[in-house]
Amino acid sequence: MLRVGIIGCGDIANLNVLGYLGSQDTELIAVCDTDIKKAGEKLERWGLRTVKIYKDYKKMVDHEDLDIVEILTPHHLHFPMTEYCAQAGIPGISVQKPLAHTITDCEKMVQVCKRENVKLKLFENFRFYPVFLKAKELLDQGIIGELLNFRINSIGTGGPGMPRGLNSLIWRVKVDTCGGGPWVYDDGIHKFSMALWLMGEGRVEKVYGWIDYFTGVMDSPSYIFWKYPSKNSDKPPKYGSMQFTLAPNVYYPSNYYDCDEYIEISGTKGIMWLNQCTSGGNYISKSLQFPPVVVYVDGVVKSFGEDLPRDWRYSFINSTEHFINVVKKGGKPIYTGEEGKNLCIFAKMPYISQQQNRSIYWEEITIENEQNKECIVEQPENMDASGLSKYNRMKNRDLRKAIRDGLKHQQFKYQYEYEE
Ligand SMILES: NC(=O)c1ccc[n+]([C@@H]2O[C@H](COP(=O)([O-])OP(=O)(O)OC[C@H]3O[C@@H](n4cnc5c(N)ncnc54)[C@H](O)[C@@H]3O)[C@@H](O)[C@H]2O)c1
Repeated sequence: MLRVGIIGCGDIANLNVLGYLGSQDTELIAVCDTDIKKAGEKLERWGLRTVKIYKDYKKMVDHEDLDIVEILTPHHLHFPMTEYCAQAGIPGISVQKPLAHTITDCEKMVQVCKRENVKLKLFENFRFYPVFLKAKELLDQGIIGELLNFRINSIGTGGPGMPRGLNSLIWRVKVDTCGGGPWVYDDGIHKFSMALWLMGEGRVEKVYGWIDYFTGVMDSPSYIFWKYPSKNSDKPPKYGSMQFTLAPNVYYPSNYYDCDEYIEISGTKGIMWLNQCTSGGNYISKSLQFPPVVVYVDGVVKSFGEDLPRDWRYSFINSTEHFINVVKKGGKPIYTGEEGKNLCIFAKMPYISQQQNRSIYWEEITIENEQNKECIVEQPENMDASGLSKYNRMKNRDLRKAIRDGLKHQQFKYQYEYEE
């Protein structure tokens, strides 16, 4: 039985814990959070009230002889926590994306885990979403020919999504704790991951980014485009783009975050559309859902994946099951630390491009250039959080008005919220 510890009992811990709750090979031994009350509430909610709680992660690591640790904290803490766990001899370390807030820290994590012979995993769950796995299988079979273009639209909708604490936003809007902004760097890692994995690429050649700060603190709307490296001069070059759109009045009830993703991939023979991921469709309103994978090829529209589980939680469960197997039986985690570092490089590029108003090449995002400050993401000037409060008030006001005007909104409550 592998002994598991969790560091950080914030929002995402509810999803990261699921794979362990369902596993016969692991036992959750302890959790740690500087906010002990929050950790206790989480254990209560997970039905694990006898699990030990620590305030100091070092004490948990020193006392509990863990086999796996999950690091679910703000990004600037990922390196020091990984270093401590690796040096304490924990064989499996899973770090929620992004690997770290700087490339320098990413590299230090890779090196310490190599030295200490530790399996370091970057936890990027889109890579395990059943619909995306199906899409990858079809793409690898050549269903739309050679891949030419990747496009993803990330839409921040009106939700409503799951309730979230203010603290979880505060560290995300600060570059020195997040590494970039909440959309392009933090959430974006998933999207950069899809842009490489689905397209069968390990990196890009260059990126141009246009990032707006409409609400004052959120790095959205934004528009990012890139070129993949050309391997063969006889083949057409491949490109990709990513949009972050704010659509405050799209009613889109979600168990999770109030955002979703739509992907379009063009190939030499056809086109593939992937509809939804994070929010995954209207589970709460139980309305019709898009087919998850649609392909246009040979003059015919085909759809795939309607039988697959659509709930986003399966991407987390699958990812955790995979890592348990790696720690038990050996093999490479998905993703490795090195691959996690590459995703951070990709996610930094649009900011540096925006700051320098030019295309940025992959080779420019290095530890050396972080040290000489040539590729440091800058904190946007005149950040005004009141812009976001105003935006959220507007979203809520519009939703109330829509309900008064006849929108059928079914208020979702977690079971535990009904308890006295
Ligand atoms: N895969 C996904 O889709 C996804 C979604 C959301 C967040 N994340 C990632 O998960 C990580 C955590 O995000 P979150 O949304 O849960 O954040 P959060 O702010 O909700 O939770 C972070 C928790 O860490 C705790 N913490 C802070 N410092 C600590 C310390 N020194 N020791 C112990 N605990 C400490 C905080 O008290 C808080 O409870 C981040 O890396 C984030 O990018 C991933």
